[in-house]
Amino acid sequence: MSTHLRSHDWFGKKNKDGIIYRSWMKNQGMPTDMFDGRPVIGICNTFSELTPCNAHFRDHAEAVKRGVLEAGGFPVEFPIMSLGETLLKPTAMLFRNLASMDAEESIRGNPMDGVVLLTGCDKTTPSTVMGAASVGLPTIVVPGGPMLNGRYKGQTIGSGTHVWKFDEDMKTGKMSQEDVEFAESCMSRSIGHCMTMGTASTMAVMVEALGLTLSGAAAIPAADSRKKVMAQLSGRRIVQMVKENLTIDKILTREAFENAIKVNAAVGGSSNFIIHLIAIAGRIGVDLSLDDFDALGSKIPLLLNLMPSGKYLMEDFYYAGGLPVILNEMKEHLHKNVITVTGKNHHENIIGNTDNYNEDVIAAYDKPFIPEAGCVVVKGNLATNGAVIKPSAATPALMKHTGRAVVFESIEDYNARIDDPELDIDETCVMVLKYVGPVGYPGMPEVGNMALPKKILEKGIKDMVRISDGRMSGTAYGTAVLHVSPESAIGGVLALVQNGDMIELNVEKRLLHLHVSDEELAKRKAAWVAPQPAATRGYVSLYIKHVMGADKGADLDFLQGSSGCEVTRDSH
Ligand code: FES
Ligand code: MG
Repeated sequence: MSTHLRSHDWFGKKNKDGIIYRSWMKNQGMPTDMFDGRPVIGICNTFSELTPCNAHFRDHAEAVKRGVLEAGGFPVEFPIMSLGETLLKPTAMLFRNLASMDAEESIRGNPMDGVVLLTGCDKTTPSTVMGAASVGLPTIVVPGGPMLNGRYKGQTIGSGTHVWKFDEDMKTGKMSQEDVEFAESCMSRSIGHCMTMGTASTMAVMVEALGLTLSGAAAIPAADSRKKVMAQLSGRRIVQMVKENLTIDKILTREAFENAIKVNAAVGGSSNFIIHLIAIAGRIGVDLSLDDFDALGSKIPLLLNLMPSGKYLMEDFYYAGGLPVILNEMKEHLHKNVITVTGKNHHENIIGNTDNYNEDVIAAYDKPFIPEAGCVVVKGNLATNGAVIKPSAATPALMKHTGRAVVFESIEDYNARIDDPELDIDETCVMVLKYVGPVGYPGMPEVGNMALPKKILEKGIKDMVRISDGRMSGTAYGTAVLHVSPESAIGGVLALVQNGDMIELNVEKRLLHLHVSDEELAKRKAAWVAPQPAATRGYVSLYIKHVMGADKGADLDFLQGSSGCEVTRDSH
């Protein structure tokens, strides 16, 4: 029985406070010896029926509890704000930082010695990891797992990725409303998160690559019983981590972040990875810049053939061997001086689990699907702080393109005019969408892969260069220049683009240039009127006053860093 655990400052007290801390917990049927100084493990549950991707987490929490109890710990499950990507308006991203604050304060303020994060849908991973990083306890993540493969009329269909295809097919009359409703059921046919390499799968891979999960956790489908086994084993492990004082800061080193960047490139992960990883690094005090992603990731080959960059889905990835196979292929390129939740590095963790069972799903490092896959950072007068593009999801022929700007002043303007037959646009144009950044929308929604005009789709053309200060769904594809920073709502040059301006994108030269003179831009800037703030009260008002640019991870400025786990005052 140890007395140094922080939970002892609650349950070990011999005074009035101790009575209060223990007695009310006992109303749940807990015997007195549960408070004898054993490690208390918080299970941070992002379950919600409004976050369908996480709606199965009660089962996972029970499995974690079994593991905690087996290892001699005391499990306590608690809810935090759950962010569902599909329903939450105006965008779940607006609330990522709020949920991170919820996670942080819930962990710090309560009697726990270690924490298990149950994560699934896109934002539920970064928000909880950001919160946990700002506290610094031993932390393990149990990713909720992807849905089973979608199957529609004999064809494999992927979450999100096929939504854009169905939308195009509806626009061009290839699918009826009835077809679409049937396809919806075929796409989401089991528990779990998006089973493409969208942001949720990207985040699951990210936490495994960072060393925050047990080995192999990311790819196991939610519906596979081995997911619950993973949850139970994680429950056992976190108790040991508390005993070893293996805190999250020992795992999240600069080297761990560098590994995650490389692995993200190799799996064709979402562009959202960049924003979330920078935000997590900011909480743990690791200096990570946008340029690091290009420098470390852009030359990494694509080793995973998953939608949207390729053709398979997460279930296939699991059967092929999962992330351990990728880590093995990359072993010469990853830092070995890192530790994971096991106390060992990846290299040691994956021993015996490196067989590749399907080389059409996972490629060898020297025979990749694409030679250079990671996100690229472009800069120029149109994005002095940078913008990102995901070449593996884009059209090679558009990587070097100069075209006439067709400008949409807002998402409403875009929606109103995009399918107008009179719109002056052809496939050589560059579509520009303003005011969809962190401050502008607010919350930086996933609208950066805006659909092409109907009249261009009808010609059989599938891609055009699109530029915005928004994000793109990790399940999406297209030549979308995203996260333009500084954003238009704070007076970035993007705000000054006019119809007919020429815009040059040159990915090889890492260039995004607006061919308008500095003088003319200065004139336009002087005439520019900043938009009204999106809110004057509540969290949204706080958010728009304090959110940092996309290049800085779009965290709130005052949330940078950690406050540790100490709380010196009692509540009574
Ligand atoms: Fe939840 Fe895609 S909508 S993971
Ligand atoms: Mg998403």
